[in-house]
Amino acid sequence: MPDVEYDIAVVGGGPGGYVAALRAAQLGAKVVLAEKDKVGGTCLNRGCIPVKAMTRSVEVFLDAKRGEEFGVKVSGVEVDFPKLMARKQQVVDRLVSGVEGLLQGSNVTVMRGSAKLASPRRIAVDGKEVAAKKIIIATGSVPSRVPIPGLDLPGVITSDDLLQTNRVPASLVIIGGGVIGMEFASIFAAMGTKVTVVEMLPLIMPPVDEELARRFTQIVRRQGMSIVTGAKVTGVKQAEGGLDVAYETSSGAQSAKAEIVLVSVGRSPYTDGLGLAEVGITMNRRAIAVNDHLQTNIDGVYAIGDVTGRIMLAHVASYDGEVAVENALGKHSQATDYRVVPSVIYTIPEISGVGLTEKQARERGTPFKVGRFPLSASGRAQTLGETTGMMKVIADTETKELLGVHMMGPRACDLIAEAALAIKLEATAQDIAETIHAHPTLPEAFREATLEHLDGAIHVLSRPWATPGPSM
Ligand code: NAI
Repeated sequence: MPDVEYDIAVVGGGPGGYVAALRAAQLGAKVVLAEKDKVGGTCLNRGCIPVKAMTRSVEVFLDAKRGEEFGVKVSGVEVDFPKLMARKQQVVDRLVSGVEGLLQGSNVTVMRGSAKLASPRRIAVDGKEVAAKKIIIATGSVPSRVPIPGLDLPGVITSDDLLQTNRVPASLVIIGGGVIGMEFASIFAAMGTKVTVVEMLPLIMPPVDEELARRFTQIVRRQGMSIVTGAKVTGVKQAEGGLDVAYETSSGAQSAKAEIVLVSVGRSPYTDGLGLAEVGITMNRRAIAVNDHLQTNIDGVYAIGDVTGRIMLAHVASYDGEVAVENALGKHSQATDYRVVPSVIYTIPEISGVGLTEKQARERGTPFKVGRFPLSASGRAQTLGETTGMMKVIADTETKELLGVHMMGPRACDLIAEAALAIKLEATAQDIAETIHAHPTLPEAFREATLEHLDGAIHVLSRPWATPGPSM
């Protein structure tokens, strides 16, 4: 039988790869997708989705505990962890079968197994070769390993392991106060785990606007979470009843004990066994080097998402997938544009942002003014009983163009969409202020922050948040 030639072969079925495959099929291409595990990749199976499902259960738990405050009698509120994890799995399974259904319905051939590049025009999936005019590599990333002694001890785990745990640990030390670390910190602290976060840098969650990162740190510390910053972990040792994490700070050597240690110090591009060197693909350290059209140095071979080592976010991988497909199929040549990438962190409270942080705006040298609005002054936040948080708008002093928007509070991760669109459309603070926002809603707080940037918000008299304090 003659070899079938596909138009596009996609290696990896995460939010980059499966979106690329679907988009290519939609554009009429004959597509094959190779996946060694479940479709949906890290995000759907071991990342975004299961973590958010757990966060939601924990929010329901926290709300239930506050029932009396809302005039609802509740008793015996407790977390049923096996059920919480079962629901998380149900959500994941439902979405995985949804993606499988989409691929099947779009006539994408799914090959199960580990793929490698046999040549720039052929992939081999567990030894079975198929030919393709174009190849898109979307193999994602894996948790980074760091050379700290003791990380191989039992009980030292990654986020993949923590998502499979069957009990709530009494104590947890998290090495790395990044996005993964802080999302898990929120989940487990809410369930009563004693959480200690050990972060190397002076502030947790490095890409987050510093003011919000600081406020968030204050909030969770008040709730009992221990956050140690500027700390260099020197080793992990077995200790009585668990593990002992040793670290050094400016005030000397210290340590934190816990039953479980989560290592969340970043993720690294995953290219094991892909045969990239044999095909001659240029690497950028561990990542596949691509140009702004997502082409590798080998004609017809593209790479997208985490494996390119650029912005490691599911929504960026999906965007890359669409761009790469348009380019590979020659529909039209499109360069990636990452100027407006919203980021969402499902901590409790949620944090989101788009555009420049205050520090980045300062470094850029553009004259800017910050407008803030505390959620305690939002009618909707009051009705929700969720008044911790703020909206922060950074806009050009002269042109009023929005440069960055940062949010902390209920639904901050959903609310950032309006700000992302505003920045994409080069809207000004005036444009937002002149847009009638429905009342009572949380987005009104975004509008109020733009008013505050212009000449004053309506629903605040003084500006107590100008100095750090408990006004949120
Ligand atoms: P990260 O890069 O967000 O954070 C890693 C943190 O570990 C940094 O704060 C870093 O300073 C710290 N660190 C590194 N080495 C250390 C050491 N030896 N001791 C102490 N601290 C150390 O990485 P993370 O949290 O592992 O996440 C990986 C990727 O997954 C990120 O690119 C993130 O964007 C993505 N992700 C995104 C989510 C979202 O958008 N909501 C959720 C989860 C992950």
